[in-house]
Amino acid sequence: MHKTPTNRFFHLQPLPHMKPANSRRNFFYTASTIGAGVMGLPVWSDSLLDQLQSVNLRAGHYSPEEFARTEEFWYLIQKAYRQSPHFINLENGYFSPQPVEVLQAQTDNIAMINEIPSFYMRRRQFEEKAAVKKQLATLAGCTPEEIVITRNTTESLDTIIAGIDFAPGDEAIMCDQDYGSMLEAFEQQGRRRGLVNKFVELPLHPESDDAIVSCYEKAITDKTKIILVTHLINISGQVLPVRKIADMAHRYGVEVLCDGAHAFAQLDFKIPDLNCDYYGASLHKWLCTPLGAGILYVRKEKIAKVWPLFGDTTYPADDIRKFEHIGTHPVSTNLTIANAIRFHQTIGAARKEARLKYLKSYWTEKVKDTPGIILNTPFDPTRHGAIANVGVTGMTPNELADQLYHEFNIFTVAINNPSVKGVRITPHLYTRLEDLDTLVLALNTLSRR
Ligand SMILES: Cc1ncc(COP(=O)(O)O)c(C=O)c1O
Repeated sequence: MHKTPTNRFFHLQPLPHMKPANSRRNFFYTASTIGAGVMGLPVWSDSLLDQLQSVNLRAGHYSPEEFARTEEFWYLIQKAYRQSPHFINLENGYFSPQPVEVLQAQTDNIAMINEIPSFYMRRRQFEEKAAVKKQLATLAGCTPEEIVITRNTTESLDTIIAGIDFAPGDEAIMCDQDYGSMLEAFEQQGRRRGLVNKFVELPLHPESDDAIVSCYEKAITDKTKIILVTHLINISGQVLPVRKIADMAHRYGVEVLCDGAHAFAQLDFKIPDLNCDYYGASLHKWLCTPLGAGILYVRKEKIAKVWPLFGDTTYPADDIRKFEHIGTHPVSTNLTIANAIRFHQTIGAARKEARLKYLKSYWTEKVKDTPGIILNTPFDPTRHGAIANVGVTGMTPNELADQLYHEFNIFTVAINNPSVKGVRITPHLYTRLEDLDTLVLALNTLSRR
């Protein structure tokens, strides 16, 4: 008989269309005696579950950092993804592949909705989206009244940038390493409303948090209304001290908009702990959802002052649901977020962050003293995640990216920002250490030419 999963990793009660879990799988949903380990793996094979279970029983007490080096666990996680055998993909910053079980769930969700199209939209979509949103709120550490599901970070942050009534002469602070679309959105507010945008320059290897915080603080004037802060900078991989920047900004009455595109579900944190006013992220990056999923968090007392991007008069101004009015969209994606959350929690946020940091350190430590190799990402583990940026003296970023691909079969992306030049290397949970060894070999070879 189908039994409702009850453990803390399964927040969403199965909805009528969801396939009942078989009794074997229910064991993993309910046997929560082994901590944040092996649970909620609805389509993985029983043998894989057995192996994960056995690693977890033995290594479950390890710290996240020790667990990050437990290769037999990560070998099993690697098998949960399907990768192209044709090249080494070290460009996982654009978006993440879905684990096979999440992809399968998406396919099932598309098929289910396709069978009952308008019925689903009229009778079920809102309730089911709200249930998924509740899970996301738990993951983010906020209430469902402070978060909405969007389609990506761009939509989330543009909603805030375009939705605040800036007056001519108001000032916004940002940095030249922030994401281009956000800078363009601010630029547009400059043209439209006379917002004045001020840029700060951030060091690539800061000596302390204060070295970063003071860059923003020095740019504040009595006209400053908002600071854009990128939680994890996509081109360099540097993690910024968002909490300290927000605390400082609030002392001047300045709001903080945080771009969490790469931080959410890569780093282990809760959004309210950052103390920012607005936070946007893409779920198709590190949560591994289908493409076209994001979140927008708005601190409760700030909701009323922001206009939604799409006209809405259904909800009161201080109701977060006014931001949900986006028209007809791929609702199967919303449902599949639940499966991606379950996969994420199967690993555990702290272990995932530790593994991703370990993968970054694994290769950067091996090349950091090699003449001709320039690393543009901090080494302090509190200042990076999976992403790092590397250059080779005498090669342009494009030349380096091309050589890595054509000669060594490694796919990366060239970064040609005025402050950051090199190729971005982004491993993922499925990345094998031997692939990073190939990268090290390639960089050493190219640096000697
Ligand atoms: C820092 C940062 N912000 C925002 C975005 C935009 O994300 P999306 O295209 O999912 O909206 C990206 C995309 O790579 C990013 O790296």
